[in-house]
Amino acid sequence: MNLRVFDSEQQAAAACAARIAEAVRDTPSLVLGLPTGRTPLNVYRELVALSARGALDLSRASTFNLDEFFGLPPEDAGSFRSYMERHFFQHVNLAPERIHFLDGSAPDAEAECARYDAELAAAGGLDLVLLGIGANGHIAFNEPGDSLLAPCHRVKLGRETRLANAALFGDDPARVPLEALTLGMASILQARRVLLLAFGARKAEAVSAMLHGPVTPRCPASFLQLHRDVEVWVDPSAAGPGRGVGATR
Ligand code: GLP
Repeated sequence: MNLRVFDSEQQAAAACAARIAEAVRDTPSLVLGLPTGRTPLNVYRELVALSARGALDLSRASTFNLDEFFGLPPEDAGSFRSYMERHFFQHVNLAPERIHFLDGSAPDAEAECARYDAELAAAGGLDLVLLGIGANGHIAFNEPGDSLLAPCHRVKLGRETRLANAALFGDDPARVPLEALTLGMASILQARRVLLLAFGARKAEAVSAMLHGPVTPRCPASFLQLHRDVEVWVDPSAAGPGRGVGATR
């Protein structure tokens, strides 16, 4: 894994947007995996700015979001779909039919997960996946536990994860859905390239466990150690004490 420590979150986000724009220039039909959360907000802002000045053309690209709350219809203001519409989709020239999303309101969760995995397989898998990381080491909504699941699946969200997502629900953790649908570890680990962002001291422990700890379902992100092309871009606080700017591993 390649760790890069940026001077600031803003710099990392700008570099990340530039990297994505470059990947789309190289491969206009790029299949991109996209996260939600606070972490990628500046990346989406930068991508929207690049698109507005004609430096990013997403007209042939496809996107697959990583996860969605279970039980919420796409148009619910707290859904990840709404988040993506607000911060990204409404502002760029992605073709609607190439925006792929789990439907949290699907009546049959298992069928919905199978549909999503099949759609991703038909698209040829993810060329590049942008990831955040939970303070508990989760990626997408693959939560820490005794085991991990390879396919897309329904998952019960941990208390910490629901707290971390309260901002989407008027800062009320009780309103955060109890369950979610998420891409499994297989789609993430089969992505051709992984770029993971982590900002702030709250993430330092998870970043360290991901990079240096054992490969264990207790820290789902640690499985990225098995992938051949992972970049981890952090700010100094997420790098943890004693990690200098430009440190690599
Ligand atoms: C969320 C998402 C993840 C995200 C993570 C970190 O719950 N399911 O995809 O990476 O938690 O969120 P944040 O960036 O807000 O810290």
